[in-house]
Amino acid sequence: MEMEMEMEGGERGKDNGEVAPRTVSDYLDPHYWNERFKSEEHYEWFKDYSHFQHLLRRHIHPSYSVLELGCGNSRLCEELFKDGVTDITCIDLSDVAVNRMRERLLVSGLHGVKVLQADMLELPFSSQSFDLVIEKGTMDVLFVDSGDPWNPNPATVSKVIKMLEGVHKVLKPQGTFISITFGQPHFRRPLFESPGFTWSVEWDTFGDGFHYFFYFLKKGRRSPESEPCHDEKRNELTISMLHEELEDEDYIFRTAIDVMEN
Ligand SMILES: C[S@@+](CC[C@H](N)C(=O)[O-])C[C@H]1O[C@@H](n2cnc3c(N)ncnc32)[C@H](O)[C@@H]1O
Repeated sequence: MEMEMEMEGGERGKDNGEVAPRTVSDYLDPHYWNERFKSEEHYEWFKDYSHFQHLLRRHIHPSYSVLELGCGNSRLCEELFKDGVTDITCIDLSDVAVNRMRERLLVSGLHGVKVLQADMLELPFSSQSFDLVIEKGTMDVLFVDSGDPWNPNPATVSKVIKMLEGVHKVLKPQGTFISITFGQPHFRRPLFESPGFTWSVEWDTFGDGFHYFFYFLKKGRRSPESEPCHDEKRNELTISMLHEELEDEDYIFRTAIDVMEN
């Protein structure tokens, strides 16, 4: 078994400095992200919007208020804006990412998009503030030192649950949480379906050779007492995961968070 974590590097190498981490634990270090974002203009983790737009469009509406967790220097918020969603709030732990994103949005004329420095584990928003919360590769950061993905260490589980509790709280009663990740259902469902959450958990995949997971969790569709479903483990390991199909950093990221199968 190997594990790791990644991102899509379609734009990588164009206008980026040396930003690769020394170890995967760097992904948990805000200084790492700050240093990285000083020199990196754009890096799209996993795939860019065009690859999952068809899935996302089923869950968004121009009237929605949207919160993006860990925006980094992704262009997701610009793409959502172009698709008619104007009430967008982005957060990131890195002040460098936040400042650079603000500058970029100003230059692009997207004045309505709010960008705040905030920790996704301590969301500074009132209950029921957003119709949709979305994250791409951000929750995955919490898993880089999780140990055995079949049995993640308690510190990881407690951080992930804290993050999910915050997301659940800030979602409106019928709101949707979208998580775009490497994390396979047998690893993510036990967390998403923890007691207390009222969301239903469904997912899709996108990508060509390599598949990424697109989870959509609909608040209010499940009883908080529902039994989590943990018994579909190995039969879901049917995803193509060839190293050659991933950018180097994506491969490193992925191996830090999940089981790899070739
Ligand atoms: C793997 S990158 C994903 C960036 C972007 N979502 C994308 O798709 O390209 C993770 C991002 O999460 C941010 N981050 C890490 N921990 C965070 C936290 N606790 N709260 C908010 N943002 C965090 C990092 O600064 C980084 O921008």
